[in-house]
Amino acid sequence: MKRIGVLTGGGDTSALNSILYGITDAAHQGGVEVTGFLHGWAGLLDAGQYTVLSPDIVNPDIGGTLLKTSRTKLGRIEGGYDQARANLQALGIDGLVLIGGDDTISVAAQFEGVPIAIITKTIDNDVGANCPADEPLDFSKIVNYFTPGFPSAARRAADFASWHGGIRTTGYSHERIIVLESMGMSAGWLALASAFGHPDFIVVPEVPLDYDRLRDMVARRYAEQKHVLVVVAEGALYPDGSVISADTTNVDAFGHAKLGGCADVIARRLKADLGGELKTRNFNAVIPSYLFRCGAPTALDKKIGIKLGRKAVQVLARGKSGKMASVKRTGDTLRVVTVDARGLPRDDEGNIVPKRLDSRLYDSENMCVTSDGVEYFKPILGKLPSPLQPAKLVVKPTRA
Ligand code: F6P
Repeated sequence: MKRIGVLTGGGDTSALNSILYGITDAAHQGGVEVTGFLHGWAGLLDAGQYTVLSPDIVNPDIGGTLLKTSRTKLGRIEGGYDQARANLQALGIDGLVLIGGDDTISVAAQFEGVPIAIITKTIDNDVGANCPADEPLDFSKIVNYFTPGFPSAARRAADFASWHGGIRTTGYSHERIIVLESMGMSAGWLALASAFGHPDFIVVPEVPLDYDRLRDMVARRYAEQKHVLVVVAEGALYPDGSVISADTTNVDAFGHAKLGGCADVIARRLKADLGGELKTRNFNAVIPSYLFRCGAPTALDKKIGIKLGRKAVQVLARGKSGKMASVKRTGDTLRVVTVDARGLPRDDEGNIVPKRLDSRLYDSENMCVTSDGVEYFKPILGKLPSPLQPAKLVVKPTRA
């Protein structure tokens, strides 16, 4: 192996440069040159661009991807596969590391030409497989315990919700009812991670929203503490299965309508229904959007990202193709292992089936995390912190 290629496709995450660093460092130690294709799969096409990567130009502490990214779908471009194959051959590429989400991997399955190693990354944490639902919950059975980039986004989700780093303080001061929207498309992993910042309720896409229950719970909680924080996943659904808010005029190359805005829809509805009863107009939607997936990686994301990058190079050096470097939990320990990407669950068209939130981690009745959910997050976010409580004020009427 003399030269390998690498590309980053799909939404960026904080861990991508850590992965790129692991790849270039391992490759250079083995005397292998690394060609980085720019803008995801688009970099492999005739109009694409590439650069030569070395460990000294990749900074693992910076989020985003040095190689930039796109949501290009090779199969949708006429002659796309042939162009990519011919360009790889012309550049003397002996192996390709694909860093992407479910979409990038689905494209990879149809791509032949050079050996491929895969590293999944997405803040949505929705690529891999859960412990089978009919077996006792065993975290070591999760394929892709988490996708790199998720730990950093999960940390942010918890911080956004918390008293220490987030929205609670203004919620308290102004006695607000805040609906905070989490990214995550059709998976609720990221929304559930906010549990480590102690929101009052969490709504995930895996369980259609029972609006009346939420409204009643919000009213009760407001009566008790005079401020309420609800976290809703951007892909939250109505009971009929339709998304609460999406921009259907904005569809990406994979056919996904741009999600977003359900916090606004829910906040407005709560205001219409409860504003009079609770005597407040302070119903607010907060949508951090890309703030979930930008910024530096957490220490865990950086460490695992580098290891995953190294593992992918080792796999290619052994002449293997179709392998995925992924994270496995054994006890409280996380290890980087390889699994066969062909083993991931797929639909009839060969698309990867998203790894949705395991229902054992979410209490749909009370709209909160379960103790198993807290245990899931332990190696990612540490121990569940105690909620910070404001001092109990003894209040008296000013006029006797
Ligand atoms: O898939 C990752 C993700 O960040 C989702 O959580 C979000 O819905 C989507 O990407 C946003 O995509 P875009 O970069 O196309 O706006």
